[in-house]
Amino acid sequence: MGLTPVHFFSHGSTMMLGEESESADYWKKCGDEALARNIKGVVIMGAHWDCMGDRIELATNPNPGKSPVAYVHPDKYVNYKLIPDLDTANRCIDMLAREGFNVGGNETFDWIHDVYLILIRMFPAYCPPTTLVSANARYDPHFHMKIGATLRPLREENYLFIGTGGAVHNLYRNRWAPMLRFRDNFALESPPEDWAMEFRQAVEDVITKTSGPQLRRAMTRLMKHPRFRDAHATDDHFMAAIFVAGAAGDAEDENAPAMMGAESWELTNMCNSQFTLGRWPKEIAV
Ligand SMILES: [Fe+2]
Repeated sequence: MGLTPVHFFSHGSTMMLGEESESADYWKKCGDEALARNIKGVVIMGAHWDCMGDRIELATNPNPGKSPVAYVHPDKYVNYKLIPDLDTANRCIDMLAREGFNVGGNETFDWIHDVYLILIRMFPAYCPPTTLVSANARYDPHFHMKIGATLRPLREENYLFIGTGGAVHNLYRNRWAPMLRFRDNFALESPPEDWAMEFRQAVEDVITKTSGPQLRRAMTRLMKHPRFRDAHATDDHFMAAIFVAGAAGDAEDENAPAMMGAESWELTNMCNSQFTLGRWPKEIAV
């Protein structure tokens, strides 16, 4: 069957759920492709759920609620039914525990927009069975790389991996006024600042010009880029990118294609780049 592709999506602000954009179109296209291939489910790491200490958790709440989001009409998400994949979550717990992770299920966690925004955009008609993996609040890139690497074999079984975070995502340096005053999240009253453009380019270069173990090294090294701290005031939205490199950066992934499918600048300085690593095998899975 071959390996499924892996997506790194920059979810941006909550308004990316309600407003149309090139990124939203790309998310839908990727969702349509995944459904056409009969994916078994989605394995996703977001940016808004981090466990303390050395802990990570899998979402095992059978009926998760959704944390509400600002600046989006509730009709866009309240009635969307999330389908947690408890069997696969338990399987992931076993796989991760065997690799030495302090990992368990969380039966009460409600899902947050970093994850359900992407699921709604990709799969508006219905949510495929989804396995949600937390990040860890120490934000160690090598730790998150290993999570992706440990779960990577599920790509051979037609699970779709997604990391939802941000390429350039510094809420302190965004220009919020047009969104707060006019609900215009895409206003660009001036060009993005140089640090944002420089780091955005570095992310694109690493993802599209490296592969395999080199991709893993380069992604972790991006956190030492001179512009990283400008582009990410906190590390949380970059962990999903590292997870993706773990899932898509094995020696077997060397020379796999990778592309930037879309990009949406929001709030002047937030760069929502959308990437796909690997590609679907030619034959349609049945
Ligand atoms: Fe976020």
